[in-house]
Amino acid sequence: MTAPGVLPLVPWPTAVERRDAPPLAVAAVRVTGDDVPAALVAELLEPVGVTVLAATGAGADAVTLDLRLDPAAGPAGADSPERYTLAVGPERVEARAAEPVGLLHAVRTLRQLVTRPALDAGTAAVTGAAPTVPAVVVHDAPRYAWRGLSFDVVRHWFGPADVRAVVDLAGAYKLRVLHLHLTDDQGWRIEIPSRPALTERSGGTQVGGAVPAGQRGYLTVEEYRDLQAYAAARHVTIVPEVDLPGHTNAATHAYGELTPDGAPTDAYGGTEVGFSRLWADVPATEPFLRDVLGDLARMTDGPWLHVGGDEAPKVEPAEYAAIMELAQRIVREHGKTPVAWQEAARAAVEPGTVLQFWDPHVDDAAAAVFARAAEAGARFVASPGSRAYLDMKYAPGHPLGLEWAGHVEVRDAYDWDPATAVPGVPADAVVGVAGAVWTETLTTRDELFSMLLPRLPALAEAGWSAAEARDWEAFAARLAGQAPVWRALGWAFHPSPQVPW
Ligand code: ACM
Repeated sequence: MTAPGVLPLVPWPTAVERRDAPPLAVAAVRVTGDDVPAALVAELLEPVGVTVLAATGAGADAVTLDLRLDPAAGPAGADSPERYTLAVGPERVEARAAEPVGLLHAVRTLRQLVTRPALDAGTAAVTGAAPTVPAVVVHDAPRYAWRGLSFDVVRHWFGPADVRAVVDLAGAYKLRVLHLHLTDDQGWRIEIPSRPALTERSGGTQVGGAVPAGQRGYLTVEEYRDLQAYAAARHVTIVPEVDLPGHTNAATHAYGELTPDGAPTDAYGGTEVGFSRLWADVPATEPFLRDVLGDLARMTDGPWLHVGGDEAPKVEPAEYAAIMELAQRIVREHGKTPVAWQEAARAAVEPGTVLQFWDPHVDDAAAAVFARAAEAGARFVASPGSRAYLDMKYAPGHPLGLEWAGHVEVRDAYDWDPATAVPGVPADAVVGVAGAVWTETLTTRDELFSMLLPRLPALAEAGWSAAEARDWEAFAARLAGQAPVWRALGWAFHPSPQVPW
């Protein structure tokens, strides 16, 4: 329950001023202005008890929610395209933003400000007294542009409805990137028109055997396009990953020509890593990479394509570099920017390549390799396993999750600085933060959400809020204030004992 006087805003904005005015009653709002469809405003505000009317609809008693583009919006001096200003009261609500994404952020902030007694009493019901919003002015802009979540839909299959729910959650905390881990040893989750056997033979398998009866186990091209459109409407970009040259058993199971003896590997339903691989000198490898990455690049609206690169211990360094460099070259030939896991720093990188730091168990030699990659122009996203891996157990004995990077309680996910998180890499080479959730032990949406909540909002604040504005005790109180909305939306969460719910 939110303590009196706490504004339950997560991530905490750049500047918040309270106006000397009473709270504004917002039982109904009428949307006027630009660039956020009223249906999207309704999707956000109706679950907290606010009726949303389109500009020309009926209904006399609505408060105006005016959304307009304005380059002067946001904190003084901020140049982020996401900057916005939200002003509540005395009689209307105004959102101003440099770009449409900022207007949507403003509506998300407004949703967090809505106080509804029935919700705050900890029930899921949206009956009771009219909702109000405190009279405040928020000027806001993010610290980092890349704020994301990496989501494994392979180890256990999570389909379009679950992915859309994850987009909604990510969007609620102003994340911009949803990276889908689409291929691994246990399955292949994206239709590739030029290589139909990938999904025909490897689409229906997962950890433990087969995906649940009645499910296909992969995204068709059309479903993938629809998902991207759904995410894009919420200003979230999908980054697809094809993991190379390890984590490739689903591929070698589907196409035996990818192995030196031409025989397909067996399907794999376990959770070991590091046994599968591609071979640089197998003639089928390059055509395979060209087909898969080419099709995926053509199907992908966003600017990035993730080519994996993690955990390939069976691949000799020179061969590893050859495959990763080829994969990145193909991605660039298709006009996309490659993203890869930290190991790819060992291969040549072009300026602008995004490397995702994940394994904090690195020595000085690895830090020197990261430093060289940063000097060559690579940019780093921080996903340290001990902070950002949301499949780690919260504490010993937690029923879900793994422990290889330790336990990640909410405070661990919160209390770290992305600028200093990547060994060897200067602060200006870090472009953001991404959580990661791997699904070896997660089989349902509730299990998934109980690992994301409440830790994903902690990472969202690490990526958005200024370092000097971050404060664990204040965050924990604001986080507690999120729970009524999670309940109203049916989002499962772990009631961590660190948070004053
Ligand atoms: C990873 O967790 N293997 C990227």
